[in-house]
Amino acid sequence: MLITNIKALVGVHPKEKLFLRGSELSELPFLENAWLLIENGLIKDFGSMDNLQTPNTKHQTLNAEGRFVFPSWCDSHTHIVFAAPREEEFALKIAGKTYEEIAAAGGGILNSANKLQKATEDELFESASIRLKDMIKHGTGAIEIKSGYGLTVESELKMLRVIKRLKAAFPIPIKASLLAAHAYPAAYKNNHQAYINLIINELLPKVAEENLADYIDVFCEKGFFSNEETVQILTAAAKYGLKPKIHANQLSSSGAVELGVAHHAVSVDHLEETDENVLQAFSESHTIATLLPSCSFYINIPFANAKGLINSNAIVALASDYNPGSTPSGNMNFVVSLGCIKLKMMPEQSINAATLNGAAAMELSNEVGSIARGKKANLFITRPMTSLAYLPYSFGQSQIETVILNGEVYHG
Ligand code: NIG
Ligand code: FE
Repeated sequence: MLITNIKALVGVHPKEKLFLRGSELSELPFLENAWLLIENGLIKDFGSMDNLQTPNTKHQTLNAEGRFVFPSWCDSHTHIVFAAPREEEFALKIAGKTYEEIAAAGGGILNSANKLQKATEDELFESASIRLKDMIKHGTGAIEIKSGYGLTVESELKMLRVIKRLKAAFPIPIKASLLAAHAYPAAYKNNHQAYINLIINELLPKVAEENLADYIDVFCEKGFFSNEETVQILTAAAKYGLKPKIHANQLSSSGAVELGVAHHAVSVDHLEETDENVLQAFSESHTIATLLPSCSFYINIPFANAKGLINSNAIVALASDYNPGSTPSGNMNFVVSLGCIKLKMMPEQSINAATLNGAAAMELSNEVGSIARGKKANLFITRPMTSLAYLPYSFGQSQIETVILNGEVYHG
């Protein structure tokens, strides 16, 4: 496939650039009046229209006049396998109940777990497929998906098997995280150690045996998993080669970020509560600070201190957190808009955070996340747009006209 007359080919980072730290996040190289050649599903070459040789007729040609080409969004934090939405909590939230109050009253994660335990693998696969197709149409071209609504050995394995099926069925890279430590099941409310032992002694060996997870995740938060409990789980998972991706500092600041960084987490995510220690922790770390502004937007909690993190030289990524409780949306275009509007990131920073740094947060930035020769041709073509900033500026609308995955137009 040959794409011609591209108004701007966005994100042409040098291939060896695998993440953008601190001030580098502002650098979003683009090529105006460009062409892009795709062969065998990979980006073969690109250049300026002035230097285009007579196109080879064996290539399917797409004329992108007036349009921008972006690398696909890389959504490094989602929970898209769930049995049912939770819109009954929506009214409670509007009436003033907090996320914690709803969870304490039997809503929240335990509510989702009750429903998921009753759902079949096929039902979960079908509903997650619908969500994933929708996300792909909105520009997502790589994704991480977590378990965490099973909360029994059997149901956590069921969720991870669904993710494995999604990996096989969809044309985008998918990473799986084991998040059995998402909440304590009611039966273990007064015996946390027994649930941790179940994860360590029964679940982890089975997950490893079936090769069901790429990462270990823990909701390290007051009222959920303490720092000490988190360390036990991370240490056990490390024996099976599972690196951490942690839910940290969403509702309180209690050392979860520092803990994640100390355990060389691939990313620590949320960070709505960001104090000076948190900023310091990232300044020289390879751990990525993944921000989820749609979650802040939906449950009305503070927005993360993106500017402080960038000024502290952190590697900042943006992701959706799509889940039925705190973020019932997987629209990365909206995430990028919120990155600008609420996190005060410039459009270039927000776009980089949702592409190359998102890919890095899934250890996929050698494959996706930028327009570079040899990378996967996962990208999207916009409608005609006046400028790059129009994409995040026109919040709540999609400017995406054509999605291309592995060099082929995606029709869903
Ligand atoms: O990332 N904070 C923990 N987990 C999810 C929400 C889960 C839920 O409410 O169902 C999150 O926000
Ligand atoms: Fe999450």
